Amino acid sequence: MRGVSVLTYISLIAWSHARALQVNPQVSSTPPPLGQDTSPAGSAPSAVSLQPAVHAVSAAVDDPAYWLANIAHQGIAAFNSNPSGYNVFRSVKDYGAKGNECDGVTDDTAAINSAISDGGRFGPSSRQSSTTTPAIVYFPAGTYLISSSIIDYYFTQLIGNPNSIPVIKATADFTGLGLIDGDQYQSDGNQGWISTNVFFRQIRNIKLDLTAIPASSGATGIHWPTGQASSIQNVQIVMSSDPGTQHQGLFIENGSGGFLTDVTITGGLYGANVGNQQFMMRNLVVSNAVTGISQIWDWGWTYQGITLTNCTTAVSINNGGPGNQLVGSVVILDSTIRNCPTFIATAWQSSTSTNGSLILENIVLENVPAAVQGPSGTILAGSSRFTTISAWGQGHKYTPDGPINFQGTFSALTRPNDLLTGVSSNYYTKSKPQYESLPASSFISIRSAGAKGDGSTDDTATIQSALTSAVSSGKVVFFDQGVYKVTSTLYFPPGSRIVGEGYSVIMASGSIWGDISKPVPVVQVGKSGQAGSFEWSDMILSTQGSTPGAVLIEWNLAADSGSGMWDVHTRIGGFTGSQQQVAQCPIPAAVSVACEVAYMSMHITSTANRVYLENVWLWTADHDLDSADNTRISVYTGRGLLVEGENIWLYGTGSEHHSLYQYQFSSARAIMAGFIQTETPYYQPNLDAANGPYPTNAILKDPDYSSCLPGNCDALSLRVLDSQDILVYGAGFYSFFNNYDTACSTFPVPENCQSEIFSVEGSTSGLVVYALSTVGTTNMIVRDGISLAVVSENLATYAATIAYFTL
Ligand SMILES: *[C@@H]1O[C@H](CO)[C@@H](O)[C@H](O)[C@H]1NC(C)=O
Ligand SMILES: *[C@@H]1O[C@H](CO)[C@@H](O)[C@H](O)[C@H]1NC(C)=O
Ligand SMILES: *[C@@H]1O[C@H](CO)[C@@H](O)[C@H](O)[C@H]1NC(C)=O
Repeated sequence: MRGVSVLTYISLIAWSHARALQVNPQVSSTPPPLGQDTSPAGSAPSAVSLQPAVHAVSAAVDDPAYWLANIAHQGIAAFNSNPSGYNVFRSVKDYGAKGNECDGVTDDTAAINSAISDGGRFGPSSRQSSTTTPAIVYFPAGTYLISSSIIDYYFTQLIGNPNSIPVIKATADFTGLGLIDGDQYQSDGNQGWISTNVFFRQIRNIKLDLTAIPASSGATGIHWPTGQASSIQNVQIVMSSDPGTQHQGLFIENGSGGFLTDVTITGGLYGANVGNQQFMMRNLVVSNAVTGISQIWDWGWTYQGITLTNCTTAVSINNGGPGNQLVGSVVILDSTIRNCPTFIATAWQSSTSTNGSLILENIVLENVPAAVQGPSGTILAGSSRFTTISAWGQGHKYTPDGPINFQGTFSALTRPNDLLTGVSSNYYTKSKPQYESLPASSFISIRSAGAKGDGSTDDTATIQSALTSAVSSGKVVFFDQGVYKVTSTLYFPPGSRIVGEGYSVIMASGSIWGDISKPVPVVQVGKSGQAGSFEWSDMILSTQGSTPGAVLIEWNLAADSGSGMWDVHTRIGGFTGSQQQVAQCPIPAAVSVACEVAYMSMHITSTANRVYLENVWLWTADHDLDSADNTRISVYTGRGLLVEGENIWLYGTGSEHHSLYQYQFSSARAIMAGFIQTETPYYQPNLDAANGPYPTNAILKDPDYSSCLPGNCDALSLRVLDSQDILVYGAGFYSFFNNYDTACSTFPVPENCQSEIFSVEGSTSGLVVYALSTVGTTNMIVRDGISLAVVSENLATYAATIAYFTL
């Protein structure tokens, strides 16, 4: 994350655009927010909670079984001040929501909002984040009538029954910015939370019905300015498609990233009206909207497997118009556009600025007469029948020399077969498993198995034996919400299926991780030489106290197809219980062993194969999530993600603030990476990469930083060493700070926080990078110590952008 100040001017432009589109946050006309509970943590559950199960009989008929609803709810908020009085899992029906099941007309707004806010939780009006108040707010099947926004809180998962998706239906006189408002505007006119700081939240298995709202009133399905480690999955948004409709399904005005998949939007002026630093969206389906996707602004955005039908313009990236395009870059792949007069509306011009960079790869068009439409005519013709785009782009290219201004077709890269679906040339994808067809009896609760998850008991042995027996009995391991302290390596055997409850935490603590020159895994996914299946979702890995030798995840497994890791994040430092907070690790700080807190976030070793990561954020905390004002901290970690294996999918991943590098691909083969996002540590070049706390390890082929180009020698975002077939579909490598000062990244000059950020070395071949955006970096691409691209050639938006780079 990074602070608001640097971005404000962009946001204002984005916001004023949104206002011009009459997207009214309606702050003043919205009734007082319902159910916002800012009482101290640990207050008793509100009076409406836990009503008798009067719906039980009809629920059996109307609400198909779903294990997450039916399993015993034993999650605890380990570091809450009153863990025994705090409910992690809340069904909205327990708070009085009817879901229309009884009378068909009850307004459920207040009940849903009290299910969210109950228990001293942190809402947008508190402007505070919190790791001590996790919640799943569950919606059984039903139709829930709402008259104003559902106000989302921090650290909240809104989850519906996937076996009969609940409908949230707005009344005709609905008020609010979004049926679900992910960051409600407050009476001072600002968002509650700084949007780049809103982490750890989800919406899944919900249908939003806006059809009762008059087409002219400009309502919004989901308002979702968000930061990393957030996801929307399996959501439908239905709006009027009457002529003149002003609705928008998804509205994002800013933020820092996020992930979305399996979302279907119908109708509206905009299916998605979105701007953010960077984002990854997969399987977004929009039909019958005037504009399918309206890109308000961005630095980079990757759309994979989208389907847009019956829109006047499928994707507009021309906001601001020629000379003032607010969109930095967009990559679209493996997608289908049908019955739209125009696929892409662009304002790109051949000029020194690279705003509006675009890459299209493997696109099917059916009845799309204009594939790319410019301000003064068609640039790439489509067809009134059927046609395909193999590879087309615009912007600057380096092949590897450049810059070359280009706009047009280019020869498509060769996709490694093992990364494809097998039945088509599309890349393989798999959404997070929700196990909706399994009964609750297919799960082993880790707490029932004896683990405490209270943040203090050593749960290592208990968890290990539960994991082993779960594999032999074919069960899924359910980590009830909690913080599970472990004091030696946990081994996840092949065949494991592991799922958390609202991001359960494994926290490494103790002397085994005390040696900065001796890496020890916290979680080991298979052992070297092992093969088999593996699924892991909805968890967080952390450390406690001084842990300079901790490798949070080590993946050795040669995995079966279908294996992967979804919404599993490292969160290192900056949370209650970590002993790595403002009190221990304030800025500016001399390095102390107490604040050396990880050797590496994740290591995909040379025996690893078929590793699928989706929405994985490897985060060294730059601020304390439990401080009232997001106070910065200085905790030190060594390395981000090291990949030495082959056949790797990295969809929507990020890696931040590690001192030696964020990503290193070393003797790796066949990596599909998009969108990848990084940030350099804020303290550098104080303790630059060459002189930071973590000594280099020759066995891991760490960069030694002995020969940086002139300028600050800060940590690389991506180093590709001796690797083959590395395919990057969108990258954002950001260096905002110079020893906590942002002057070095202030737009459009000087862009000199660090000298280099992306290094290609050795015998690397088959490297293609689409839409590379950097911030605060003088040399955008360096090969074996020689600069291939400098920032001044590629100035664009706040970030500098290169559309296409290949060796
Ligand atoms: C996001 O946009 C809002 C509305 O313009 C603005 O108040 C806020 O500062 C922006 N936030 C960031 C992080 O840029
Ligand atoms: C697109 O429009 C056609 C013609 O009106 C209609 O038959 C078809 O169902 C629409 N497609 C979708 C996905 O709504
Ligand atoms: C590029 O984007 C920046 C920031 O939004 C803007 O100031 C500039 O005018 C844009 N340039 C072009 C040529 O669109």
